[in-house]
Order: sequence, then structure tokens, then C-alpha cells
Amino acid sequence: MHDFSPLFDAWAASYDATVYDADHEYAEVFEGYNAILENICEKISEKSGGVVLEIGIGTGNLTKLLYEKGFHVIGIEPSKEMRKIAQSKLPDVPIMDGHFLSIPVSVHMDAVVTSYAFHHLPLDEKKKALVYLDGLLKDGGKIIIADTMFESEEYKKSLLDRVKSSGAFNLLKDLNTEYYEYVEDICQLFRELNYQLEAEKMNQYVWMISASKGRD
Ligand SMILES: C[S@@+](CC[C@H](N)C(=O)[O-])C[C@H]1O[C@@H](n2cnc3c(N)ncnc32)[C@H](O)[C@@H]1O
Repeated sequence: MHDFSPLFDAWAASYDATVYDADHEYAEVFEGYNAILENICEKISEKSGGVVLEIGIGTGNLTKLLYEKGFHVIGIEPSKEMRKIAQSKLPDVPIMDGHFLSIPVSVHMDAVVTSYAFHHLPLDEKKKALVYLDGLLKDGGKIIIADTMFESEEYKKSLLDRVKSSGAFNLLKDLNTEYYEYVEDICQLFRELNYQLEAEKMNQYVWMISASKGRD
């Protein structure tokens, strides 16, 4: 698995400025950032009190919303600097080192959520991660993923052409080198696990997939 921690350790101190500032080359990716995080919370079946595992918490913005809504949230984050910032915002929330394929707790979860992080795994590791997370989820629980995904080859091509002509070369490099998938390919991974699916486009980049684990 590729280790992105050096990149996120370096980004941690200015990460919140990036997501909340509308004037930089990633602005469209983070358009409606708070509303996307709120939507994730709303998709969780329990309205409060459930145990929610959040993976790739970064500076803890979604973690904070979940905590304030009364969920028992457990945060997992591989970057030490990100963990430090999240823990300083949320001293009462358990925040641990780990990643999508290594969760240091064995509690059964009501929901597993992640925002802007699943694209750090290639598709074969995403598949392994979903099988692994399925093992941590209660029957009737949900896995909710918000991240950049493409609805079609044509859409991806036209978006990348537009990013290139706007001169957003850092964003272009990320889109070409990290593991951004087609919506359908992520949905297929969930279908193989017999999950019920909802997929919703949140902005020009981000989709939210909410997948429910069936009761046999
Ligand atoms: C763009 S930030 C998103 C942070 C936060 N979830 C948000 O929505 O603002 C991506 C986060 O994923 C984490 N990450 C990178 N690779 C990961 C992996 N394999 N497993 C879990 N988290 C990972 C990074 O350290 C970083 O904090």
C-alpha cells in the first residue's frame, strides 16, 4: 500500500484553510464541503448513540460533526500530524493510528464512514478493504463513502481537459496519479457483498455512496 502520510503530515497545518477557502485550485473539489459532511451524518440509520467508525479523519471535521450529533465515534488516521490536530479539537474522541486495512478495534459498528480518503487505495485494495470493513459492521449497518469519482469515461475526459486548460496542474497531477474510480466500479464492489446502494452526486467531483448491509 502506498504511504501518503508524509504528504498529509506536511499538509496538516494548512488543511482546514484549503477546505474552507474558496480561492485555490482545489476549490471545486471541496465545494459544499460542510454540506457533504452533514449529508454523511444524515445517511447513518441511527440518529444518535450508534457506534461510528470514521477512517482517514484528517483534521477531524466530519468526526466533530458526528461527535456533536451524539454518535460514539472512533477515528482512524495514518498521519501523525493530522491525528494531533484532530485530537486537539476533540480531546474526548478516541483517535487512533491505522488505515483502511488495519483498524485497531474489534467493536461491531453501526456505520463506517469516510470522506475524501478512499481514493488512496487502488481498486484491488479497495475491494479487500470493503470485505474487511464488512466484518466490522453490524447487520443493517451502513458504509458511507464520499470521494471524487467519475460517472463515465466521457465525463472524466472532459473534466480533466477543463482542469488542464484552467492551469490547475497540481489537481491535474492528483487526478492522474491517485486512485480515482468510476462510480460504477465502487458500486460493483458493494454488490459483490450483497449491499443495497444509493449513489448521489455532491459536486462536480464528489459522489456519496451509501451502502446498507442486508440482514440474511
Ligand atoms: C484529503 S484528506 C481528508 C480528510 C477528512 N476525511 C476530510 O474529509 O476532510 C485524506 C486523509 O486520508 C488519510 N489517508 C491516506 N491514506 C489512507 C489510508 N490508506 N487509510 C486511511 N486513511 C488514509 C490521509 O492521511 C488524510 O488525512
